[in-house]
Amino acid sequence: MKIILIGFMGSGKSSVAKKLGELLRLDVLEMDELVLQKTNTRSMDEVFAKGGELLLRETEIDIARAHSQIPNLIISTGGGVVLNKIVLDYLNQSEGKIVFLNASFQTIASRLTQDQDFRRPLFKNIEQAELLFHRRLPLYLSYADQIVDADTKSVEEIAQEILL
Ligand code: S3P
Repeated sequence: MKIILIGFMGSGKSSVAKKLGELLRLDVLEMDELVLQKTNTRSMDEVFAKGGELLLRETEIDIARAHSQIPNLIISTGGGVVLNKIVLDYLNQSEGKIVFLNASFQTIASRLTQDQDFRRPLFKNIEQAELLFHRRLPLYLSYADQIVDADTKSVEEIAQEILL
């Protein structure tokens, strides 16, 4: 079984992926972590400083290509994977299910502004982040096989709903 979680920054992809990995006893691919490993950096800020957003997007494509043939995997994507169709095309080879964690911008903003240690280069300015959110929303919706309300439910509830 392959489950690919998509959604905006702060929608809960990593926590839900971890829970699904535990419940299904499957490996979890945390794409942001692998980006840091592959670019030899310690934070997304460093990735952007080293090669701009292009370095992130190219590395995401490489990671997706490298994992395209693995059938049993939970994948927590970075919020921007929907920008390059090829990333989800690769990840979705071998029968994956793409699940969109749909949280409101209000919920996301309150989570991320409290989370000071977790620095995201594309979430430094709240007005710009909100514009990005609204530009991305149709993309998440268009790729999703399943849409889960990630605003009020717990990580456990979201994971259970994905497995129904
Ligand atoms: C990004 C989302 C981040 C990370 C990078 C860019 C985006 O991942 O890949 O900072 O473009 O939305 P998370 O969604 O895991 O925060």
